This record gives sequence, structure tokens and C-alpha cells, in this order.
Amino acid sequence: MEFRGIDTPRAEWTGDCLVIGLFEDGVELTGDLTTLDHKLAGTLQEIISEAEFKGKAESSISARVGSQSPVRKVGLVGLGKVEHLTPETLRRAAAAAARIAQKERVKTLGLSLPTWNGNAAASVQAVVEGIELALHQDTRFKSDSDEKPPKLERVELLGFAGQDAAITKGQQIALGVILARELVSAPANIVTPITMAETAAAIANEYGMELEILEKEDCEKLGMGAFLGVAQASDMPPKFIHLTYRPVGTPRKKVAIVGKGLTFDSGGLNIKGAGSGIEMMKTDMGGAAATLGAAKAIGQLKPDVEVHFISAVTENMISGHAIHPGDILTASNGKTIEINNTDAEGRLTLADALVFTEKLGVDAIVDLATLTGACVVALGDDIAGLWSPNDDLANQFLEAAQHSGDKYWRMPMEEKYFEGMKSVVADMKNTGPRPGGAITASLFLKQFVKETPWIHLDIAGPVWTDKENGYHNPGGTGFGVRSLVSWVLS
Ligand code: BES
Ligand code: MN
Ligand code: ZN
Repeated sequence: MEFRGIDTPRAEWTGDCLVIGLFEDGVELTGDLTTLDHKLAGTLQEIISEAEFKGKAESSISARVGSQSPVRKVGLVGLGKVEHLTPETLRRAAAAAARIAQKERVKTLGLSLPTWNGNAAASVQAVVEGIELALHQDTRFKSDSDEKPPKLERVELLGFAGQDAAITKGQQIALGVILARELVSAPANIVTPITMAETAAAIANEYGMELEILEKEDCEKLGMGAFLGVAQASDMPPKFIHLTYRPVGTPRKKVAIVGKGLTFDSGGLNIKGAGSGIEMMKTDMGGAAATLGAAKAIGQLKPDVEVHFISAVTENMISGHAIHPGDILTASNGKTIEINNTDAEGRLTLADALVFTEKLGVDAIVDLATLTGACVVALGDDIAGLWSPNDDLANQFLEAAQHSGDKYWRMPMEEKYFEGMKSVVADMKNTGPRPGGAITASLFLKQFVKETPWIHLDIAGPVWTDKENGYHNPGGTGFGVRSLVSWVLS
């Protein structure tokens, strides 16, 4: 798809379809829109009245115009209240415009949206992300792939001439989000620890990044007993991925992103029962998917920041080799863990990944994980939980994520709850009582980070959507990529 910023006035634009954003209570046609409406034989006013269009956020209408008109189709998208305008409003409005273009089968789309906060670059970036992501349809596993509608080929962004860099940035970030979506949506017989390592290798090759894959034997040498305990029942070899982006010159900061990478989570011998959503556990590598998606975006954006992308990738399976409930594992920092529930496996893989990461001497670590059902109960499907012992880092991340469309809510690291993880025989158990299950999970992870500022993100809710929602289509959402990139660049 080709994007172009142009300065053609709305009343003079010609092409297949023109979509205009209107604020709530700003739907009376004045000024140039009156001129435009005359050219369109009154269609704008007609559809506003007929559909009782009020400019509410997420609302949209479209119609055909007479064949003598300079544009064949016209659409309106609601922007909500003018004082609530954010880049996310623009991302969603642009997605609605893209859906109109798709429905009306147009090739060229003219889009007229306002600038957020005088920031044309941020506005254009959000618009481009919204369009690319709304149009992304994952048909890899459908056999009837030839009945696709004619594709939108060209989008002209009215009033945004000279924003080529922002267009490119939006496209690069969208490619990262799409990679994450496709990794999450693919089933566990397609995306395995081996293909995850291959995906990392493809990124390393394409963008000139360093790649280290630790095989099982390498992990044994490093004493990664927690990660390998989870991996030991699988017929698939575990892969510990360490991908590094190094800028030319001295990096402004060094950070690490660590993603939970369970390509399938059966629960292990504490197997997930009926109604547990076991068939959705292909999504349990959503943290690793976001990590690789962010790597793909960073590889293209080339910021002056050193970034390490890490994931201990495996399946959690059952077999004669499986860890028994009650087994004691020793992590690579020497701490011993009594496995009172084999389904609390993500924290075990992350334990060794965090110990490895801290040795890299970075300034900050962010981990993302589809870690607990408890976090979904607390925050629902749209919001991820954020835990950190470090207020400055937490605030910095929340600020960077604010306009990304990825929603986070900070949760408490209530140290007292770690009492629930006390073990009679080992340093700790891997599972606490049911209440506060997402909090005890984060306290468990904290045992494996000594002093580096660190954030844990529980993305079990927003990793997937069953419904179309704004720029999301049903499937993996690519949650985390935009906020991670925004944080790295901040
Ligand atoms: N991968 C799951 C968490 C999960 C649940 C992700 C639902 C997405 C949707 C994780 O490994 C898990 O099984 N967690 C257990 C922990 C429990 C045994 C302490 C859970 O949340 O039930
Ligand atoms: Mn589990
Ligand atoms: Zn899991």
C-alpha cells in the first residue's frame, strides 16, 4: 500500500472515495464542507441526516455519489469530543475509513483527519498504523484464497504533505505488530520452538542484528533447571533466543525485552481441564511474539539504543519425562523451587530468562507474559497488568505507552503475599493461593531480578480478540509491540 501526504483542499480532491473525520457536535457542514457538499449533490448532508450521524467515536457511514461527481464514494467517521482527541482516536478513525474503503471496494482513498495536539508526525504515524492494521487479514490457513475483494492501493492523507518519515515509521511499526499477530494466531503445530528460533534468525539476517540461540546443552551448562524442567516432557527441543540490536556509535541506553514463549501450554501433569481454554494455549507465546515483533520494528527504525530481545521458548507437555508435581527444580541463580503446580510454567521459564538477562548489564528490563488467568479476571480482555518495584521506570513506561493503543494498569507488588509461596522443602513454591494470583506470580519473578530496574507485564487478556475491534481483526492482536517500541524510542 502506498501512502502520500498532500495539501489538496478537501473540496478539490478527486479519486475513488473521500472519507472525512467529524467531531461530535461538529456535524453541521460549514465552510469548505458546504462547497464540497454542493459538488457531491448534497450527499454529505443527506447521509448525516438519514443515518442521524452524530460524530460519535467509532461511528461511521458511507454512500455512493452520482457518477458525474469528482469522487465516487464518500464516507464520514466520528471522532468523538474534540477535547478528547488522542492519537488512538485517529488510529481508530483511520481504521474505520479503511473498512469503508474495503467495503466500497475502492482503490484510492482520500482521508481528511485533524492533527492531534499540533503534532502532525504523531498523527500521521497513528493513522498509518490504523489503516495497515485494520486491513491486515490473516488468510494463511484458508484454502479459498482467490475470492479476495479488490485491494486498496493508495491512501492520500489530506493536509499532511511532507510527513514521509512519519508514514514510514507507522508502516515499520505495523510490520512488527503484524509479525506478532501472525505468530500468535498460528497453531502450535506450525509455530514451535524451532520456528520461533528461525523467525529470530530471519530478523537477524534482514536487519543485521546479532543472534545467539542456546540449545538445551547450553542451557544445562548455565544451570537453567527451571526452564529445562518445563521443557523436559516435550518432543520438541527448547530454544533460548537472544537477539541483539546494536546501534552505530555509543548507545544512549541499553534495555532488554523478555517474552514468555510457550508455543503450547497443556498445563503439564496438572493438565488443563474441560472449559479451561486449553485449545487457546497456542497464544501462550504472545510475550515472545511481541518481543520478536518489537525486534522487527526496531531493526527498521534503527534508534540509538541497544536492545536485547530474549525468550526461553518451549512447550509445556506431558509424557513419561514430565516433571512431577512436587519436584524441586534449581534455577540458574541457585534458588530452589518446589513445583506444586506444573501449569504455573511461564514463571519458571522466565526465571532463568531473567537471570540470564540481568547478567547483560542493561539499564532496564521489561518482561511480557501471558502469565495468569487471574490477571484476565482482574483487568479483562483489553488491559494488561503492569508490576514494577521501580516507580520511575513504571511511570516512564506508562507515559511512553499512553498513546500507543496498548492499555496498561499498574498493579501492586504486595510483598506480604509472598508468604503464600513459602515451601516446606525448597526456597519457594511456584504457585500461591488463588486470591491475588497475578500478584504472587509477579512476586515470584521478582526473586530472579536482583537490582536492575524491571517491569513485568501480564498480557494474558489482550493477546487475543475473538471480535473485530477498531484496527484489530479477530485473532492475535500483536499487543505490546507499539508500546514497547514507543518505550525504546523514549
Ligand atoms: N498460560 C497460562 C495463563 C493464561 C490463562 C493465559 C488464560 C491466557 C489465558 C499460565 O501458564 C497458567 O496456566 N496459569 C495458571 C497459574 C495457576 C496454576 C497458578 C492460571 O492462571 O490458572
Ligand atoms: Mn500454564
Ligand atoms: Zn502458560
